[in-house]
Amino acid sequence: MVNKRPEVIVGNWKMYKTIEESVDFIEKLTPLVSESEPFVYLAAPFTALQATSKASEGTKIVVGAQNMNDATEGAFTGEVAASMLLDVGAKFVILGHSERRQLFGETSSFVNKKVKRSLAEGLKPIVCVGETLEERESGKTEEIVMQQISESLEGISTEELEKILIAYEPVWAIGTGRTATPKEAQEVHAFQRHHIGEVWGKVAADKIGILYGGSVKPANARELMQQNDIDGLLVGGASLSPESFGSIINYQNALTH
Ligand code: PGA
Repeated sequence: MVNKRPEVIVGNWKMYKTIEESVDFIEKLTPLVSESEPFVYLAAPFTALQATSKASEGTKIVVGAQNMNDATEGAFTGEVAASMLLDVGAKFVILGHSERRQLFGETSSFVNKKVKRSLAEGLKPIVCVGETLEERESGKTEEIVMQQISESLEGISTEELEKILIAYEPVWAIGTGRTATPKEAQEVHAFQRHHIGEVWGKVAADKIGILYGGSVKPANARELMQQNDIDGLLVGGASLSPESFGSIINYQNALTH
């Protein structure tokens, strides 16, 4: 079955790439994806955002950030506001990534404040959810994902929901080489869409883009994208090279086995 929603492939560079490396990447990726169908998003580190968005002007690559603070401005040493991200050309922001949740103690209620701020400022939020291995093994995947969605998106209107992307990233699949099988991922995606339908209504649930992330590679992108409820991919490690990120974006050209 063909996906009914726009496809979005997002690269998440995490704490990699200097300005020079970022600009070089954009120059190499641009010709590889000029004809490709999915929307191409790239989350650069703060320090390279301005250069990366400038280098991406006139291409189909949309640049965004990996985190932000929920306040408009203030005495928050080391933090970055949404308006500052917009100032350097960011169009979207990844919020609640599991590395933020696990290593920096971010809670869903903090993520919720950031989602509201990003929407208020016109920055598109990509909200990440996902269970740990322990939670999966104790049969809590659905409960955890449902809780993270409800709390992170609390108070969000149906209209606002249309501007949001969700990324399902099982924590055990991030950077481990262990991908959820397309079937495992599809099951959780379908569950999330069902849950969203119960809270925001079926129309909103049918419209929202839900991306999969966790050890996505050129070799598994196509099969993941063929699942009915997977509308895009959030790619970490494999987004660091223009060749591998380019082949993920062009997953439709991949040979079937
Ligand atoms: P990975 O990371 O593709 O390296 O597993 C995905 C992510 O953390 O967004």
